[in-house]
Amino acid sequence: MNQPLPTLRWHGEHNGHLVLIDQTRLPADVVERHCHTVAEVWKAIRTLAVRGAPAIGCAAAYGVCVGLAEGLPLQQICDSLRTSRPTAVNLFWALDRMQKVAEEVTPDQLREALLSEAKKIHQEDRQMCADIGTQGADLLSGLAPGSDLLTHCNAGALATGGDGTALSVIFELARRKKQPHVWVDETRPLLQGARLTSWELQRRNIDCTLICDSMAAQVMQEGRVQAIITGADRIAANGDTANKIGTQSIAILAQYFDIPFYIAAPTSTFDLALATGNEIPIEQREAQEITHSFGASTAPPGVGVYNPGFDVTPAKLITKIITEDGVLTPQTEAIQKFFSSQVAHPWSST
Ligand code: MRU
Repeated sequence: MNQPLPTLRWHGEHNGHLVLIDQTRLPADVVERHCHTVAEVWKAIRTLAVRGAPAIGCAAAYGVCVGLAEGLPLQQICDSLRTSRPTAVNLFWALDRMQKVAEEVTPDQLREALLSEAKKIHQEDRQMCADIGTQGADLLSGLAPGSDLLTHCNAGALATGGDGTALSVIFELARRKKQPHVWVDETRPLLQGARLTSWELQRRNIDCTLICDSMAAQVMQEGRVQAIITGADRIAANGDTANKIGTQSIAILAQYFDIPFYIAAPTSTFDLALATGNEIPIEQREAQEITHSFGASTAPPGVGVYNPGFDVTPAKLITKIITEDGVLTPQTEAIQKFFSSQVAHPWSST
């Protein structure tokens, strides 16, 4: 069974608002959250009620429309939304797109033009997910039926406007009768793997097994992982890739155990302005997420905590990057060549 509700949707016309599945409540409750103000959209992004790089981009685009319906100035809306989370470049990419459209229309046309652009970003994201699924399943077509894949965090329908990036590849493999089995890293500290990925896979009848992040090495050593596939939040010009904290450990293990490690991400997740992953801003999150996971106290009061939300996997540990427009070798020259042939892409002129 597919997801019962869309990850996000626009309700109404220009005076409408943004509606999201509240992902902080999954898997126990499947409930929608209505955002009528920019402050509510900001909070939904910041608290991970909506999360995953492409979904954050879509939410921010609709967030602009929410702000205009509130009567706020465009610049103020965009400045505010830009502070919601730092790492996923899709947030900034979507807001840049919205601001660019705003420059090209008259004040009378503004609200209609920006709602239409937000819907376009959302629709393109759906198509991008489908295309990543096809590209990835073609790349992995040599996998034997019943092969085991491993994924980290959630790069599924809940993280995008469509069917996901990494999970879209898995869904397509299933459609092609490859019967994949998926090892799902629980993804400490916020459990996107346990709460969201295993929920999505179950609903789609994909065979999956949940493990703690610390068990991945053991499963790999037992020879029970044939390929690893994750999403991305920002990819630098040389292919270094930021994704959920813990991804880098998996990539290092993959190299040790000689398992291919794939990133599935749309072209909107590339940030060619950054030469390497060292320049990617890493979100630092509240200590409470580690000391009080989901309410229960799990550490003594006052203990020091370090809680980076993302890490950067060096390009040399990534086998291939799967995009909607093709599969890339994570190297500066190959990436440059790929984008210079993408006439319609914002990076094509760099
Ligand atoms: O903190 P989150 O849950 O927003 O982190 C999400 C991830 O790291 C995903 O893997 C990434 O955004 C890709 S989603 C298609």
